[in-house]
Amino acid sequence: MAKQMLEVMKSVHGKPKPEADELGFGTYFTDHMFVMDYTEDQGWYCPRIIPYQPITIDPAAKVFHYGQTVFEGLKAYHGSDGEIRLFRPEENLARLNRSNDRLSIPPVDEAQMLAYLKELISVDKEWIPREVGTSLYIRPFIIATETKIGVIPSYAYKFIIILSPVGAYYEEGMDPVGILVEDEYSRASRGGTGEAKTGGNYAASFKAQERATASNKSQVLWLDGIEKKFIEEVGSMNVFFKINGEVHTPMLNGSILPGITRKSVLELLHDWQIPVHERRISIDEIIGAHRSGTLEEVFGTGTAAVISPVGVLQWEEKEYVINNRETGTLASRLYETVTGIQTGELPDPYGWTQTIATKEVVL
Ligand code: COI
Repeated sequence: MAKQMLEVMKSVHGKPKPEADELGFGTYFTDHMFVMDYTEDQGWYCPRIIPYQPITIDPAAKVFHYGQTVFEGLKAYHGSDGEIRLFRPEENLARLNRSNDRLSIPPVDEAQMLAYLKELISVDKEWIPREVGTSLYIRPFIIATETKIGVIPSYAYKFIIILSPVGAYYEEGMDPVGILVEDEYSRASRGGTGEAKTGGNYAASFKAQERATASNKSQVLWLDGIEKKFIEEVGSMNVFFKINGEVHTPMLNGSILPGITRKSVLELLHDWQIPVHERRISIDEIIGAHRSGTLEEVFGTGTAAVISPVGVLQWEEKEYVINNRETGTLASRLYETVTGIQTGELPDPYGWTQTIATKEVVL
């Protein structure tokens, strides 16, 4: 894609900013958004930062009928040293393009998108909360906008980035959450869209999520779509088990989301020389480990959830309490390390963070 001039239209009146203790997750949005359009003839064109506003889309747009859409989630952090940091944003943009490929959406120029993203954050930098445990959640997404009801890929798209100041993803904060092992519905199957970040995967999870909520559990633990036997992932995070001093996580198999926090945790565990296995893990094995007293910790990893300890697993009407419903030492160490690197409180020996210049970015 040829280099294109980014147009910046600033809002005249800023919105009031929420207090840190009322942030929650994904409720408030900043003053600006990024928008860019695509047609087969023009490629991606007209990148612009404009005041945050509703968009007008024709009701025949393909996104509404066939769900041709992808999204990403990443965060910016305001460090106590005054720097604004992004955590492995190049990984998110690479994954966005893999999701695009799966959904037959044209690729974006990753380096250029990163520059636009940094510029948007720079424009709305006053919205990045500074309190411990808060961040600016960044939601890039692409929707198919061609107005035609034929079942073929769209020739027109919109790429939008919105920003939301957030606190903890779960109401429990860093306290362990309860998870319901889902045995009826499935999230994905190999060959499907499970490893892409696309809206339909999440829409298809809501039915099971309702059951989890009715059982007083925060999320669902998905089993594989064929045998309903092997563990895949939790609603909005990848999952890890510490058994007898060693760590186990489901291997990426085409139907599991390749999480960037998951990848970082694996790299940390290798570095700390804690034995870690990416493999097929059956729910029977986990229940067996619980019964024999060797299941020491369960935790989830994700951009939104960071490192989230699991205190209870519910499987076939029975509840299995993990680590006395307390946050385990490994989950705590990972949380402190990941968030320490993200916020700049700890050194970043892996080169995972990128700082954002708060002056204009040269595009
Ligand atoms: C994320 O962790 O960024 C996610 O996208 C999960 C969820 C909020 C959809």
